[in-house]
Amino acid sequence: MFRNMTIRKRIMAILAIVYVVSLSLAVGGGYYVLRQDTIRESLEKTEIFSAAMSSSAKYLTSAIRPKVQEYLPDTYFPEATVGIFMLTTIAKTVQEQYPEYIYRIASPNPLNPENLADAFEEKVIKSFEAGEIDSWRGFVQREGKEFYAVATPMVAGQNCIWCHDTPEAAHPKMVEQYGTRSGYGYALGDVVGTRVVYVPTEVALQQAKKKLGYFAGGFSLFFLLALIAVDRIIISSVVRPIEKIVEVATDISRGKMDREFEVNTNDEIRALADAFKRMKVSLAKAMDILRR
Ligand code: HEC
Repeated sequence: MFRNMTIRKRIMAILAIVYVVSLSLAVGGGYYVLRQDTIRESLEKTEIFSAAMSSSAKYLTSAIRPKVQEYLPDTYFPEATVGIFMLTTIAKTVQEQYPEYIYRIASPNPLNPENLADAFEEKVIKSFEAGEIDSWRGFVQREGKEFYAVATPMVAGQNCIWCHDTPEAAHPKMVEQYGTRSGYGYALGDVVGTRVVYVPTEVALQQAKKKLGYFAGGFSLFFLLALIAVDRIIISSVVRPIEKIVEVATDISRGKMDREFEVNTNDEIRALADAFKRMKVSLAKAMDILRR
């Protein structure tokens, strides 16, 4: 394919191939690195978010709930006694400032229908139940957007049973609020749900794509300038001198023996011109001999 091309076109074609290959390698590699970066960043955010949430829940169960139960033993006051109630409420407040950050406590058997596990959450809970994994992290689509999610299991302990065992055992006010349809029947040690933090990757990935776009633009501009420079060099130091040698050689072959091979560089073209000069001298001598 290259054989029938002029030197200039051949070099340009090779450089174009180098450009395409190196640009795709650089953009592909860059995207991979930036994506890893995005994962790391999202992971840090989800860890901080869920640590803050778990700490609030711990504070409720260790500092508030015992006092409430001591001072108001018969009162149903979920805002101060149900960790999950507090967490879902805090999550909603956080969402007012960061609408795309989602914190969910999901269960296939919820008291509150808002907490019903979706297909993804149900799959994760099944894996927890089967003991395949003890936490799940990765990318997941939610309502058409991509999120980085970290899910951890929720296991029923002794202190969960009094609300989630049977409607008869639970506080009547709670049953009145949530009904008896679902959310009960917890047994000790069961995986009853999952805590999931969803952090959007879209924004970070879009920034990564933008950075890559700038890089590809800069790289292309640089390559274009290099291409133009190389083209100029090829024309001035290879194409033009060879054309000149061809022209002089053609003239000499037609008998214009006064033409001279002139080269003002000191390279392969000069060597070629010198060889032609010597050939011209030999030719002139041979013609002299023939003429005599
Ligand atoms: C004082 C009663 C009470 C206790 C104790 C309790 N929960 Fe709940 N739980 C609730 C209520 C009320 C909700 C509904 C919160 C809401 O409206 O978002 C709930 C919600 C949940 C949910 C979300 C799904 C759903 O049912 O809406 C899970 C999962 C859950 N609890 C697990 C547990 C676990 C595990 C424990 C023990 C560590 C526990 N609960 C202890 C009352 C309780």
